Amino acid sequence: MADPGTDVHAFAPDRFIEEVHSFEFWFQAVEGYLSETRYGRRPETPDVRLDDAERDRLVTVLCNYCVGETAALEGASGLVAIAPNRLTKIFLSTQVVDEGRHLEVLLHRLGDLGVASPEAEIEKRASRSLLAFKKRLLDLVAGKDWEAAIFAQNVILEALEFTVFQAHAETADPVTRDVLLGIVKDERRHIGFGENELGRRLKTSPTTRVRLGAIQRELDPLVLAACDETLAQLGTPRSERPEVGRSYLAAVERLGFA
Ligand SMILES: [Fe+2]
Ligand SMILES: [Fe+2]
Repeated sequence: MADPGTDVHAFAPDRFIEEVHSFEFWFQAVEGYLSETRYGRRPETPDVRLDDAERDRLVTVLCNYCVGETAALEGASGLVAIAPNRLTKIFLSTQVVDEGRHLEVLLHRLGDLGVASPEAEIEKRASRSLLAFKKRLLDLVAGKDWEAAIFAQNVILEALEFTVFQAHAETADPVTRDVLLGIVKDERRHIGFGENELGRRLKTSPTTRVRLGAIQRELDPLVLAACDETLAQLGTPRSERPEVGRSYLAAVERLGFA
């Protein structure tokens, strides 16, 4: 285990991978931004009163974030069983903890907003596109398709969450902003894992590239529809919504999955 403050990017590739997949690395990463918070909120962050319509739209958005986080939680935990080696199993177990925490802070925020039964609200307000994406992801996990499931989860779903949470944080009330920015820090680590795990395979295997390209073409419409629905709830003008969709596609492309 490296000393705190060591630049792990200076390590040789094998040592780097071992380091960033560890619970030791995970703990140092999360300690910095979670130790001062309670359910993702810093104690000094003020509560801002939302009017009824704003509150209702925020509840719908948070319910859908809960669907995405539940998909990642169930997906990551299922992937532990089919991960190809022990290091990837260990990383995924840190991701399971992260996704469980994300779900918890979002449910807690719903409680803060006066939602008595978050489960019932999620049931009522969940986007069909997002539910279809979740089903497809969990089918890939159940089918033990490691590459496709990691692609759907740690590239596509994580890039969607990363893009939408960041866009939302810019206009969110202060408490929701705290919660979202804490989540985004973890999602960045999860995307790094997907990139690491699939990057080399994509470079060396044309078959993998073709297969994952087909998965992306299948999932993009669901992801873009879910993104559009969330932005509409957030009051993002119709003319600006494609911009966020493009930034999701660009995030996936930057990882080499064009
Ligand atoms: Fe998450
Ligand atoms: Fe994640």
